[in-house]
Amino acid sequence: MILLGIDTSCDDTSVAVLHNDRVLSNIISSQDDIHRDWGGVVPNLARRAHEENFQKVYELALKRAGIAEDQIEAIAVTYGPGLAIALGVGIDKAKELAARLSIPLYAVNHMEGHLFSPLAKSKNDRGTSWQILPFPLIGLLTSGKHTEIVLVKNFGEYEVLGQTLDDALGEAFDKVARMVGLGYPGGSLLAKLALEGNPHAYKLPIPMKGTPDFNVSYSGLKTATRRLLHEMTHGQPETLTKAQILDVAAVFQDAALETILWKLGKALEKYPVKHVLLGGGSAANVTLRKRLRTLAKKHGAQVFTPRNKKLCSDNGAMIALAAYLGIRHGKQPSDPDCVERAPQLSL
Ligand code: KG4
Ligand code: ZN
Repeated sequence: MILLGIDTSCDDTSVAVLHNDRVLSNIISSQDDIHRDWGGVVPNLARRAHEENFQKVYELALKRAGIAEDQIEAIAVTYGPGLAIALGVGIDKAKELAARLSIPLYAVNHMEGHLFSPLAKSKNDRGTSWQILPFPLIGLLTSGKHTEIVLVKNFGEYEVLGQTLDDALGEAFDKVARMVGLGYPGGSLLAKLALEGNPHAYKLPIPMKGTPDFNVSYSGLKTATRRLLHEMTHGQPETLTKAQILDVAAVFQDAALETILWKLGKALEKYPVKHVLLGGGSAANVTLRKRLRTLAKKHGAQVFTPRNKKLCSDNGAMIALAAYLGIRHGKQPSDPDCVERAPQLSL
């Protein structure tokens, strides 16, 4: 089955083409340059950029996949969670296409996309087949807006065991990146610098470690990092040296990962599943991947991560894949007249 996946949930316009669970193309048009000057995503500018870019991204997705429009058999689109007016663009385009091509439309939860993104196969390699993963399993979702530990009882049957009480993991990375002068969005760069720093150079608290639930919190860690920077520079952040930035990045990353991994370990103790799926923008973090594998191994579980960076951040391929897995589990097409944006949607 040839599926088209569309995601315009935030600041990336993405269209992908899949053959079943195999990604034929996954085009992402980033809006970072548009929002950089504002230090965050401006909803109106995001909507306008989605409108302007969609056709170009759609045509490129078909071209890269080597398929013609009339070969598409189903359309999958994110209907939430996300920015309402940004979601609206993708939904409208998906409805138009489904009507024009007379093919079914599937409305997909963006978080379900991140959750199953490790199961997307690439064009040429075999990848992890969704058929071999028995339920239940645990999903760790870490993005710029979400940090969740999810018990996946079956396809479509989810229990959020724990989540962040304030900032998301990726968001905390972005905020600390800004504090040390790395600009926006700096989370990915901060993680890169952390690899060169000493995680024991300073001490930061590990938030929520030891609490009996599976929740995490990042706003206290952010404040503690700000305080540390203030002490280190005596209130003059411009005096921060390169070596100090590397160390702060490493110390922050260590504390930020420790808190979520500690909770995940507790979840694995309580729910001894055999498989863990890691998804979301922060799934690109190599230290997170490494530490998660070590932790899961201790609990007799195997970790699956997205096969490339594009599958970690917001993308259309994970949306088409979630629709495909849904279809294989009996999901029915959505009634286009009833598909509406759902900015606060959860799993
Ligand atoms: O999934 P995503 O593209 O958008 C959301 O749905 O939120 O995630 C973007 C987030 C950003 O906050 C970015 O800082 C974070 O993913 N991120 C990282 C890394 N690369 C991207 N966080 C930690 N380590 C990384 N290597
Ligand atoms: Zn996302």
